[in-house]
Amino acid sequence: MTDTTSAYCGPDRILSGMQPTGGLHLGNYLGALKNWALMQDSGKQCFFCAVDMHAMTMEYDPALLPGRVRGVAAAYIAAGVDPARSAIFAQSAVPEHAELNWVLQCVARMGWMERMTQFKDKAGSGKDAERASVGLFTYPVLMAADILVYKATHVPVGDDQKQHLELARDIAARFNRDFGGGRIILPEPEPVIMPVGARIMSLKDGSRKMSKSDPSENARINLYDDADTIARKIRKAKTDSEPLPETAGSLDKRPEAKNLVGLYAALTGESIDDVLDEFGGKGFGAFKPRLAEVAVEYMAPVSEEYARLLNEKAEINAVLKNGAERARATARSVMTEVRALIGYWNA
Ligand code: ADP
Ligand code: TRP
Repeated sequence: MTDTTSAYCGPDRILSGMQPTGGLHLGNYLGALKNWALMQDSGKQCFFCAVDMHAMTMEYDPALLPGRVRGVAAAYIAAGVDPARSAIFAQSAVPEHAELNWVLQCVARMGWMERMTQFKDKAGSGKDAERASVGLFTYPVLMAADILVYKATHVPVGDDQKQHLELARDIAARFNRDFGGGRIILPEPEPVIMPVGARIMSLKDGSRKMSKSDPSENARINLYDDADTIARKIRKAKTDSEPLPETAGSLDKRPEAKNLVGLYAALTGESIDDVLDEFGGKGFGAFKPRLAEVAVEYMAPVSEEYARLLNEKAEINAVLKNGAERARATARSVMTEVRALIGYWNA
């Protein structure tokens, strides 16, 4: 594929989002949120949304959704996203996401959608898959709309979102080909993935990612967990009985050990080799208490600020209102351009 982003003349913009489907966890933080805060310093315009429309693709309680959007916004701010520099908003407050979604549904091809692995993971198989919502199937198109409605060029996400970003790029390229008349209207967005921490695994099963939807609370460290809870979850984390190895390659067949070492590296900013230099040959009895200490120390300022903000309803509501207004101004102008290109009625 040609690198069309380099030929794109518009400004660089950053967009990302998380689903308000439950409290955020350390995987969300190390894999994405931390990077959002850092990327604000690039001087690029930033948009960070709570994707409440995506949260409707699985069973959910409408009465809980607005509170969860507020919770996600509070987590963004606690993690260092600055509402003065970045627009923080609810996806549903900017109707242009839904408007572009339809346009892009007519651009995306069935074959592209059928390759999406997240649908297969979330929908299951047989009768379960038949009962899945159509929205769950078309979820990645709405995600493409979230990005392209701002002409975002950079999307900081965890490793699991790579395939969705690839689809967004394909959709943008096809839109440009069909409607751009040789111009790049929608830039192909680049995923921005952290070198360490992009895939934190469950504390109970090193082959599954840490997730909000995991039924076991002990599988994840939540942003709101206090020091004792964090230490207890790490103490109980699944491990094997071997001491830690001296070299990174030897971790490959030991998913739980690899995850805990990766977690230590992501929290301290050290490389995996540095961590093994210090802990290689030592057992988990020595490593886990150090990891717990590091995690508690690292997370305390974030979780304290998060807890404080959860009580500041009015403050968060104001941030979300202001963020939506700013986001909408950009989304509206992109939609005006799109509507003219696709032949919508405009008499
Ligand atoms: P969850 O799977 O917990 O519901 P989301 O799908 O809402 O999380 O993900 C929000 C963001 O956090 C995405 O950018 C995603 O890639 C990132 N992310 C989610 N889980 C992890 C993880 N275990 N490790 C690293 N990043 C993650
Ligand atoms: N699909 C993402 C996830 O599950 C959430 C998401 C929705 C998103 N729209 C987005 C992420 C746009 C980045 C950009 O984590």
